[in-house]
Amino acid sequence: MLKQVAALAFYARFFRDFSRLGFERRVPPSERRELRFDDQRWVVTGATGGIGRAIALAAAAGGAQVIALARDPVKLDDFAETAGPHRVRIEPVCVDLALVSAVRAAVEHTARKGRLDVVVANVGVMLHDWRTTVEGLETGVATNLINHFVLVEGLRRSGALGSNGLVVSMSSGGMYGARLDLDALEARSADAHDGFTAYAQHKRAQVELTRYWNGLGPSAPVAHVMHPGWVDTDGVRSALPGFRRILARYLRTAEQGADTALWLAATHPPRPGRGGIWLDRHLDPEHAFGFTRGGATAPELVAWIERRIADVDARSAG
Ligand SMILES: NC(=O)c1ccc[n+]([C@@H]2O[C@H](COP(=O)([O-])OP(=O)(O)OC[C@H]3O[C@@H](n4cnc5c(N)ncnc54)[C@H](OP(=O)(O)O)[C@@H]3O)[C@@H](O)[C@H]2O)c1
Repeated sequence: MLKQVAALAFYARFFRDFSRLGFERRVPPSERRELRFDDQRWVVTGATGGIGRAIALAAAAGGAQVIALARDPVKLDDFAETAGPHRVRIEPVCVDLALVSAVRAAVEHTARKGRLDVVVANVGVMLHDWRTTVEGLETGVATNLINHFVLVEGLRRSGALGSNGLVVSMSSGGMYGARLDLDALEARSADAHDGFTAYAQHKRAQVELTRYWNGLGPSAPVAHVMHPGWVDTDGVRSALPGFRRILARYLRTAEQGADTALWLAATHPPRPGRGGIWLDRHLDPEHAFGFTRGGATAPELVAWIERRIADVDARSAG
């Protein structure tokens, strides 16, 4: 009961900005001109559904070559076909972003093709059931966090993603309810797992990862973290059916959720020196409540992720 009241208070606090009304107020129609990405090369994860699909299609329509990563080969083919005349600029690549080995293979494939301009780390799942991958990681943290790191670091270290590159991480307003706690990133048993809490932690962690990449110096790509507001997608339909039922009229379209990622790629704002999270083309504060401050730091987070990757490697070697 207490949890439901807290959730209601949380949603009420953010309704004005995160709903469709927020998008309409914060991005007036006069600013919604066509964005161009000619000669750019993009990678978009989760490109077959929801926000990722809207980003990938708009990037290709704006002239970018898009490497579209997703898991389901049938959906990937359907997605590419819906791009119509822009199909020629889309390369569908089938990869399970829950698996370190699969993401490493995708990095190799992508890096062979040359320089990249934009990586959108979009995939994110809220898993209410506790499950682990064949590599021994909890599936949610592997998908939402660890493999974003594997992807971006792999591309960065290979040289494919350099100082002119841009990383856009798709976080969530849910991170406003979380203080980064490394012990809460990955439950080791079903009893210890809470899908909401884990998701909020992963999304808060993306803010710290962004700080990590921006702290690497001028040779590293510029990194931004954003959230899309509340968007009507299959992800929301399956993970938050009650939320969707109540707020149906106020949810954003996938295109509205995608808008900030596209705008960041078109305008390339400088590294946000003091952090922040983008929503509707505005850099908002990273914290809305005092209790979320003072959590684990970016270097501590990266050390944690690297330990979990080393565990995967040790298991596969042994
Ligand atoms: N919707 C919202 O209101 C909202 C709010 C805040 C933040 N976000 C964030 O925005 C991002 C996109 O959300 P969404 O609602 O658009 O998601 P969605 O509707 O669930 O779309 C999911 C996409 O990700 C792919 N995917 C999922 N798991 C994958 C895996 N293991 N490997 C490869 N691809 C995988 C799916 O492809 P397959 O079908 O092939 O697996 C599909 O293309 C997420 O990071 C989410 O946390 C969304």
